[in-house]
Amino acid sequence: MMAASMETSAGVTRALSVAHVDRHFELKGDRVQALGDVSLEAPVGTFIALLGPSGCGKSTLLRLLAGLDSPDGGSIEFGGASPETMRRAGRIGVAFQDPALLPWRTIRRNIALPYQVLGRPVDTARIEDLIRLVGLSGFEEARPAQLSGGMRQRVAIARALATEPDVLLLDEPFGALDEILRRQMNLELQRIWLDLSPTTVLVTHAIEEAVFLADVVFVMSARPGRISEMVTVPFERPRSQSLLRTPEFHAIADHISDLLFSGSIPALTTALEPAETSAPTSQP
Ligand SMILES: Nc1ncnc2c1ncn2[C@@H]1O[C@H](COP(=O)(O)OP(=O)(O)OP(=O)(O)O)[C@@H](O)[C@H]1O
Ligand SMILES: [Mg+2]
Repeated sequence: MMAASMETSAGVTRALSVAHVDRHFELKGDRVQALGDVSLEAPVGTFIALLGPSGCGKSTLLRLLAGLDSPDGGSIEFGGASPETMRRAGRIGVAFQDPALLPWRTIRRNIALPYQVLGRPVDTARIEDLIRLVGLSGFEEARPAQLSGGMRQRVAIARALATEPDVLLLDEPFGALDEILRRQMNLELQRIWLDLSPTTVLVTHAIEEAVFLADVVFVMSARPGRISEMVTVPFERPRSQSLLRTPEFHAIADHISDLLFSGSIPALTTALEPAETSAPTSQP
């Protein structure tokens, strides 16, 4: 998964390079090493999934990629640019598990928010395109409370895509959805990704979701969080639901499941050290 940054008609696009990243936190006087020596590389336009036990540092890594936090050691860059530079230029779009929409704003104005945060004129044509892309035509003037959970997630993804980012970072965006809706959203995300091809990092707990969507799944282990294995997913796109029933799909999913549950990757319960048991490490 090595690649130099590539030149495109739109200019230099940015490959992701994470090298020897460390991040620790102080928690009630104890030092928690959230990430230890994390390295990964991905070419421009790759879809990466991050899978691992609760507390292994997935959200921490995503926040570092988003330029919302800084590593204690190591480096992260997108084709030579730091995450912070990318974020300030509107080149990174982020969506978290909680869609965090502004309840008083219409859908259209929620999606326009990144322009206002960056102090740019709102690209209204782009916003109309995104609303169509995520299948919310007709709901432009609705408020978040008038939408279903899946629709709100689609608004959050449209908002993350508003400034045409090179990089899309998704932290458990479908974690709160039921299985049927999650599968529908996986198909929608694939469609959007095929249309726009941002370099994407998806944090998920769901093995099936990771294998269905990603070019490469990085399996993480805990304490400290590190990459324990890189699994390449070879299936052609667009991928359909029938892929989920093939032996090839199951072979990859089972391999990842073995990595996660065989004991080679410490589960949260066995990995917790006594000093840390007083502090919850999982997030809702
Ligand atoms: N701001 C913080 N202060 C103190 N400790 C933190 C902070 N953020 C994360 N941690 C710790 O870092 C570790 C990794 O947390 P992180 O949220 O990255 O895990 P995760 O893999 O996203 O877990 P989950 O799957 O439950 O969301 C945990 O032990 C957590 O307690
Ligand atoms: Mg998390």
